Amino acid sequence: MERETIIAPSVLSMDYSRMAEQLAEIEQSGAPWLHFDVMDGHFVPNLTFGPDILKGFRKASDLFLDVHVMIDRPLFFAEKFLSAGADNYTFHYEAAEDDELRRLSGLVRSQGKSVGISIKPDTPAEVLKPYLDLFDVFLVMSVEPGFGGQKFIPESLDKIRLLRKWVDEKGLDSHIEVDGGINETTAKLARSAGADVLVAGSYVFKNNIREAVKSLA
Ligand code: DX5
Ligand code: ZN
Repeated sequence: MERETIIAPSVLSMDYSRMAEQLAEIEQSGAPWLHFDVMDGHFVPNLTFGPDILKGFRKASDLFLDVHVMIDRPLFFAEKFLSAGADNYTFHYEAAEDDELRRLSGLVRSQGKSVGISIKPDTPAEVLKPYLDLFDVFLVMSVEPGFGGQKFIPESLDKIRLLRKWVDEKGLDSHIEVDGGINETTAKLARSAGADVLVAGSYVFKNNIREAVKSLA
């Protein structure tokens, strides 16, 4: 069965002097999600946005806000991003112990929101196998988290295949999302491996936004 592909343009690559204009173009492109990368300077060597900036996006747009936190304290910040308007809250497996990870899943779901878990390139997909029922989104990082514009790591495709197989075997309708180095070529590879959500930053914003989004779907 053909699965619908969701394109999630990444705020990280926006031109911050033309945000309203670019947001309008994303809306016209038909991309249903907007990917919002939160970095704390500890979990990754870069700093980005907090909940107040997310509130601005919530006010300006009805897009599904896909928040990806690359931070050390995902539990501490969850409520803040949820009340700021996150529709999905994805945190890193590497940043949470088993009990924290379970609490986060319960907390986000109890608010009727979607919850995701992400793995860095060096983390094997197998670590997620015990948690398949707890998450709505499995996010495979196909570059080292921290910066846009890096090259897609091909080994990520094997992780996508495994996760797709496991969630299908369990009859779950979880999303398999891929983030990093997505362009027209890598999008095709990721989709045929089983990814249904494609995050794209530099590819979308360095080209004509509407055309770039269409070329990925
Ligand atoms: C990187 C971020 C990505 C980033 C992807 O740590 O998680 O979401 O925006 O950027 P590109 O598409 O340029 O690789
Ligand atoms: Zn991201």
